[in-house]
Amino acid sequence: MAVQTVLQEGDPRLRWRAAAVPDTAFGSAELTRLIGDLRDTMAAFDGAGLAAPQIGVGLRVLIYGITANPRYPEAPPIPETVLINPQITPVGHDTQLGWEGCLSVPGQRAEVERWQRVTVQWRDLQGEPQQREVTGFEARVVQHECDHLDGVLFPDHLD
Ligand code: NI
Repeated sequence: MAVQTVLQEGDPRLRWRAAAVPDTAFGSAELTRLIGDLRDTMAAFDGAGLAAPQIGVGLRVLIYGITANPRYPEAPPIPETVLINPQITPVGHDTQLGWEGCLSVPGQRAEVERWQRVTVQWRDLQGEPQQREVTGFEARVVQHECDHLDGVLFPDHLD
């Protein structure tokens, strides 16, 4: 595992739609290594989350989690979670406005409107389907990271 370079806004690879992880890749050494790279890179730069396209890998894989994070001092702790091929479904119609930053958009923070509560369905490393309902800041992080899989950066949401 290794800390990778985080691509910066302007790099076309941040704008591509990432491909689904194929069934044959679950449990593989390559997928395990990718997740390790995401974990190490997120930790090295104090990210709350990191998606594979941000390190130049066009696959629908992301990691997020918060312990004590100097970039998000007010954020509640969130256990480390790896999402593969995630799908988000809003629960209800409530939205929330909150501050976001991004390791790929350095020096910029803005208030972004997100769903307050979403259901996330994904595959784990072994390919088993998982589901969780998340709310508040965790719901925000999940929506931000899933955007990266579709080539969307948070400033795209601003007027
Ligand atoms: Ni980001």
